[in-house]
Amino acid sequence: MRRALGLCVLLATLTLACEEPPEREPFARGGQLYRKLDCARCHIIGGEGGHLGPDLSRIGSVAGSRAAGQTAEEYLRRSIVSPGDHIVPGYNDVMPRGLARGLSEADVDALVLFLRRQE
Ligand code: HEC
Repeated sequence: MRRALGLCVLLATLTLACEEPPEREPFARGGQLYRKLDCARCHIIGGEGGHLGPDLSRIGSVAGSRAAGQTAEEYLRRSIVSPGDHIVPGYNDVMPRGLARGLSEADVDALVLFLRRQE
């Protein structure tokens, strides 16, 4: 039992040590979060990713015209924080809730910036 516990503590320490340190520059941080939160499981950027959700390679150019009265910035923020607010025609409402849970305001800003620059 004690040995098993010791092993767990060792593994937990190693896992923590392996976590990438947060990028400081916002665009780089946004890309890091995009990878960490596994957005590419359902979205394509630059030819790589899954097909459950829309291709995001040009989302920076289209986000501003997706929902009436919302700027690109607002639309992208809502897409992450509250995915059910607007459903892109032709897709199902399957984007996971709670992706932004645990993210700081600065992290959400960074993710939005990263998406806006995909033009
Ligand atoms: C399980 C699949 C899945 C994952 C994981 C996922 N999404 Fe989505 N996402 C979708 C689907 C499906 C839609 C289209 C339906 C809708 O609008 O909610 C969507 C829509 C979007 C849109 C709007 C796209 C447009 O063309 O207007 C954005 C932006 C977006 N997702 C960003 C993200 C980001 C950022 C992440 C990671 C933090 C993420 N998604 C993770 C499935 C997913």
